[in-house]
Amino acid sequence: MSLLDQVKVFEFPKISDPRGNLSFVEGARHIPFSIKRVYYIYDVPGGETRGGHAHKTCSSVLIALSGSLDVRLTDGENEVTITLNRANKGVLTPPGLWRTMHNFTTGTVVLALASHLYEEEDYIRDYDEFLEYVKTLK
Ligand code: TYD
Repeated sequence: MSLLDQVKVFEFPKISDPRGNLSFVEGARHIPFSIKRVYYIYDVPGGETRGGHAHKTCSSVLIALSGSLDVRLTDGENEVTITLNRANKGVLTPPGLWRTMHNFTTGTVVLALASHLYEEEDYIRDYDEFLEYVKTLK
């Protein structure tokens, strides 16, 4: 059983309307944790990569509100890549996985719903340290 099995892709409701579409995310109904923080990533220059870290406790759900990107998650052995390319699609990224975000199209805006407040101590930013850390999870 890998932490990768806990990665979950969500499709949020979409209310289609000739005036424009509307989607919504409800705390207890759609998100498997209580949302403590919201942050967003935007104005990403072409070819840039974001992420490049793991969290020890924080889970998040990522949604590309506009544009598209690839979210790559690895447990150090296997990896999955989820393409976020619709505003009503999200991915749950559990703690203990190394996450990078690639292939942003121009104008992409990524919304992140997080289970914890920002704490730098929760991050593992060195990949070798991450590989040592995942051994302690087994
Ligand atoms: P980081 O999480 O490394 O960004 P990404 O995963 O998108 O590449 O955060 C980048 C910087 O922003 C880092 O200095 C920490 C800071 N930051 C906050 O202060 N609060 C937050 O909620 C987040 C997500 C980051």
